[in-house]
Amino acid sequence: MSVRPPVVVVLAAGEGKRMRSATPKVLHGVGGRSMLGHVLAAARGLAPEQVAVVVGHGRDRVTPHLAETDPSALAVVQAEQHGTGHAARLALDALREKGEVDATVLVVPGDAPLLTAETLGRLVARREETGAAVVLLTALMPDPTGYGRVVRHRDGGVERIVEHKDASDDERRIAECAVSVYAFDGAYLAASLTRLTTDNAQGEEYLTDVVGLATSERRGVEAVVAPDHRETLGVNDRVQLAAASRVLNDRLLEHWMRAGVTVVDPATTWVDADVTFEPDATVLPFTRLCGRTHVAADAVVGPSTTLVDTHVAAGATVANTHAVSAEIGPQAAVGPWTYLRPGSRLCEGAKAGAYVEVKNSTVGEGSKVPHLSYVGDAEIGAHTNVGAATVFVNYDGVEKHVTHVGDHVRIGSDTMLVAPVSVGDGAYTAAGSVIVDDVPPGAMAVARGRQRNVEGWVERKRAGTASAEAARAASAPAATERAQVCEDGEVGET
Ligand code: UD1
Ligand code: CA
Repeated sequence: MSVRPPVVVVLAAGEGKRMRSATPKVLHGVGGRSMLGHVLAAARGLAPEQVAVVVGHGRDRVTPHLAETDPSALAVVQAEQHGTGHAARLALDALREKGEVDATVLVVPGDAPLLTAETLGRLVARREETGAAVVLLTALMPDPTGYGRVVRHRDGGVERIVEHKDASDDERRIAECAVSVYAFDGAYLAASLTRLTTDNAQGEEYLTDVVGLATSERRGVEAVVAPDHRETLGVNDRVQLAAASRVLNDRLLEHWMRAGVTVVDPATTWVDADVTFEPDATVLPFTRLCGRTHVAADAVVGPSTTLVDTHVAAGATVANTHAVSAEIGPQAAVGPWTYLRPGSRLCEGAKAGAYVEVKNSTVGEGSKVPHLSYVGDAEIGAHTNVGAATVFVNYDGVEKHVTHVGDHVRIGSDTMLVAPVSVGDGAYTAAGSVIVDDVPPGAMAVARGRQRNVEGWVERKRAGTASAEAARAASAPAATERAQVCEDGEVGET
């Protein structure tokens, strides 16, 4: 039987007091996305007819975030938070203004980032198959404190949900919890939401009470028990935020390992939800891959590396590196201790070695910047070598300028390339040069003072120091030898 696309309502208006944060709870990040972003991604997996998100607390930030992550979702304002039932009622009112809501209505909380489209889809399918008024997702929680408990009849059917704060001691011993995820018959939900009371410990309209109403009206209530309670974890404080991040990370790593990626130490490897790999990529310990980072086949990333929105092509190696919005070409070598800033592009076989910083620059095919250099706003051609401690002096204090370096160039160690400037194909620069004028192809540019040796300076000006003594000894080796022999007393002065 084909399942009709549902209407999705996301509850995201609550304050999230226990986060103790200036940031609205649903905007806190897990695996590189907001919690709300995760819930929306799972919901979108069902190709829903409509998505409505109830916003309230912090809506000046939540609404723009929603417009950015899911522009076709409808934001419904709940200015004062009178409970989950009230929130759902406002959402349905807003949806019904656009037409009858007769599809299944899937309600999900905005603070449950681990829910999967698969589980949500099972709920919707069960609702459609059975015609039940409501199918609720439940979970067996190791610590059910705080959750609404699922009270079942003797025959095993669901009777009602009782909130923790309203529950008796016996009810609090129930491990099966409601997790704020339901598939409702849309028409029934709309009708019953107008009948909720606030006669409870929190003085709120409880969405959970729709379940009790439906059973008392013999309107079919079904429960789907989550196969793994961790998928349903709600985040109310920072401890649960970290726990959710860990669960998601384990899930992502397991997915990628099964897809052929070697993760040497899953315990110290963190990947965001939008990171992608090709089979036979390898990730070494203490590595974080963030945003839309991609790691291609046979590339080795880590140890101790952070990559943000960075593309690592096949066969590249990236060790002890911090890179943001960089492109690392096939067989390129980066690190150790390298910083690639936005716009860094290393072509095939290029190298950025130890203590090298690159920003908004291209390092051409086979070109190397092996040690201790800053490369900013540079275009470097192919098969060029940049000597140790070279600086692309791109900033005149007010503006940034570009340096062009051709193919097969040899930049001597400790060259300052003062932009704007260019070095032609096949040219050399002498070590220690400060290059302010363009260097023609094939030229050797020497731009440094000539060396002058002031003979005997140390013995004259630093007499009595160890240096002076060493200098004296070095300049009169024969005399020293004679003195040494004398001391030994074997041979007298000749
Ligand atoms: C709710 C459930 C509880 C369940 C738990 C699971 C009710 C009455 N209780 O309790 O049975 O075990 O979730 O996580 O439904 N929200 C609004 N507007 C409001 C109030 C809440 O949009 O007026 C949103 C919140 O932003 C949140 C969700 O609804 O995303 C759940 O609200 P929360 O306050 O976290 O409810 P719990 O007390 O956890
Ligand atoms: Ca909650």
